Amino acid sequence: MSDTPNLAFDEAATEADALREQLNKHNYRYYSLDDPQISDAQYDQLLRRLENLEERYPLLQSADSPTQRVGSAPLSVFESVAHKVPMLSLANAFDDDELRDFERRLQTRLDDDSALTFVCEPKLDGVAVSLLYRDGVLVQGATRGDGFSGENITANVRTIASIPLKLQGQGFPPVLEVRGEIYLPRAGFDAINAEALAKGDKPFVNPRNAAAGSLRQLDSRITATRPLEMCAYSLGQTEGGALPDTHLATMLCLKEWGFLTNILMEAVVGIEACVDYYQRLAALRPGLAYDIDGIVYKVDSFRLQEALGFVARAPRWAIARKFPAEEATTRLLDVEFQVGRTGAITPVARLEPVFVGGVTVSNATLHNEDEIKRLGLHIGDRVVVRRAGDVIPQIARVLESELDRVDLPGIVFPTACPVCGSALQRSDEQAVLRCTGGLVCAAQRKEAIKHFASRKALDIDGLGDKIIDQLVDKGLIHTVADLFTLQVEQLAGLERMASKSAANLLASIAAARQTTLPRVLYALGIREVGETTAKLLATHFGSLEKLAEADTETLLAVPDVGPVVAAFVIQFLNNPHHLAIIASLREAGVEWPDMQPADEGVLPLAGQVWVLTGTLTAMSRGQGKEQLEALGAKVTSSVSAKTTCLVAGESAGSKLDKARSLDVAVIDEAQFLVLLESGG
Ligand code: IVH
Repeated sequence: MSDTPNLAFDEAATEADALREQLNKHNYRYYSLDDPQISDAQYDQLLRRLENLEERYPLLQSADSPTQRVGSAPLSVFESVAHKVPMLSLANAFDDDELRDFERRLQTRLDDDSALTFVCEPKLDGVAVSLLYRDGVLVQGATRGDGFSGENITANVRTIASIPLKLQGQGFPPVLEVRGEIYLPRAGFDAINAEALAKGDKPFVNPRNAAAGSLRQLDSRITATRPLEMCAYSLGQTEGGALPDTHLATMLCLKEWGFLTNILMEAVVGIEACVDYYQRLAALRPGLAYDIDGIVYKVDSFRLQEALGFVARAPRWAIARKFPAEEATTRLLDVEFQVGRTGAITPVARLEPVFVGGVTVSNATLHNEDEIKRLGLHIGDRVVVRRAGDVIPQIARVLESELDRVDLPGIVFPTACPVCGSALQRSDEQAVLRCTGGLVCAAQRKEAIKHFASRKALDIDGLGDKIIDQLVDKGLIHTVADLFTLQVEQLAGLERMASKSAANLLASIAAARQTTLPRVLYALGIREVGETTAKLLATHFGSLEKLAEADTETLLAVPDVGPVVAAFVIQFLNNPHHLAIIASLREAGVEWPDMQPADEGVLPLAGQVWVLTGTLTAMSRGQGKEQLEALGAKVTSSVSAKTTCLVAGESAGSKLDKARSLDVAVIDEAQFLVLLESGG
């Protein structure tokens, strides 16, 4: 019976202890191991049970209880905290050579030319933090401040779920200071900015500012509402206990003790491997869930770190290699409306030029009217421009306008096609406005011809956009077929076209006459028929005539073809105007031999998955891909256990390593050429 108060309290205390342990363990599984055992709802249920017990028996409350993550009463001021071990900054390297200089400096100082082991880790773009644990319990959290003393933000850090309030496992020193970065993952940033906009508040400029602002709250209950995370990257002061003698091993201990560490962290030997890591991480960067502004390289051995020591306020044994910034602020000068190949009207932002993502950007796509509304855009606004990887620059958000917003002109959509004046039509399911002029519209004609001449289509070398614009504007060509009847005198009359280049252009137009069925199908510009679908249609039907006869059902049998694509193909090939263009192409001598349809004979590499890497000398990788696909292979960009074979050209790198580690077949270029010659 548990009706005596003490017994009830004892039972509650035992249960509360068990709940705390379970909650801490689940937190550890979620953040450190990335392997949760229970659902979020089940976690919340355990947490609520603990909250109830602590509410009923206030004596059970403790600072390290998972219930404390909701925040506590506001402070009037942050106290100052001295850092026993200063929190230093890092020297920067801005290119590969500066990274190589870094290794040379280390080798000179150590008087040893042997290759060093470096730990490479993403440089998270957030706020540095110091967390102090006594006997495994979090007792203090502090900002970096000036490196020697910071602000006490213990109440705020306690609200961050990935910061253990109590350490897991064993072996941690009785006094342990862990350092790391507090940051806002992109999704969390978008969510709090959407909320700010909805409330009419000013949005944050970037995730770093938002993380800093969230930590600077005197009321930790506000911090608790921000989805912050903390990733550990080093130790500060420690007392007692035995610690590993390398950085990597220390990070593995931190993971075992319940900290989130970065899974992209890697130990490599020699600086060239560091350069390679930069390339690999740069490729992953646009897809990461959080912002990074570079890579930190650290000498792995603590013995060597000690021997190298510090210079000014940075360690000699570490360096940060910066990435180009992905976001910058600039001003929206105007919005213009472009008409695309299929008549879609796309608003394009004209911007005050700004350097972002490694290039100068003066235009950004705005997609459609909904996007403009979502952004709440006005001409004259200060905007954040984002260019991540090779993605087309975008306007990420509007900052509070420097001018009085009421005076800023809104963006007015055209009511007729800005090029040909035809009526506009809005498709119901998409927010896209389209010009109904078809090939009457000069903009659509130009875009259709540009597409026809492009690299993956007929690949007409030297026929650039500017030339096509002039040819259409002067009425020298109306359709793609007219390209093949152009005369040298007509071309020579164009701006910046000497007779030599006119002759060269005519030669490449002539050369493009010998082409392939997949290229023609792609070049015709049938809506939703991209390069891959064109190839699949070509191998399935074998000829344009057979494709033109196909009904919906036959088309749906082609992989990748759904009802939308099928409808566009049928519509296109039943339009007399399009049939006339195809006939004129043939009359003008354009030839695309029929192919053997897939069902009449299985292609030799059907069902296989190939990857090309490194540099090929006899052809480009794109041409290699085309040849493999013509033999029925699927060509992908990354090696996996499903890969049938890797073609490794010169200076093949990580893909070759991966193929070897997965036991995937590898052939060199010479073997590849033999295979192609033998027809697979
Ligand atoms: S190590 C003495 N590792 O970058 C070495 N710093 O100027 C101290 N940062 O504000 C830092 N990710 O907060 C280290 N993986 C990482 C990091 C990292 C981000 C921040 C750090 C500091 C700045 C260095």
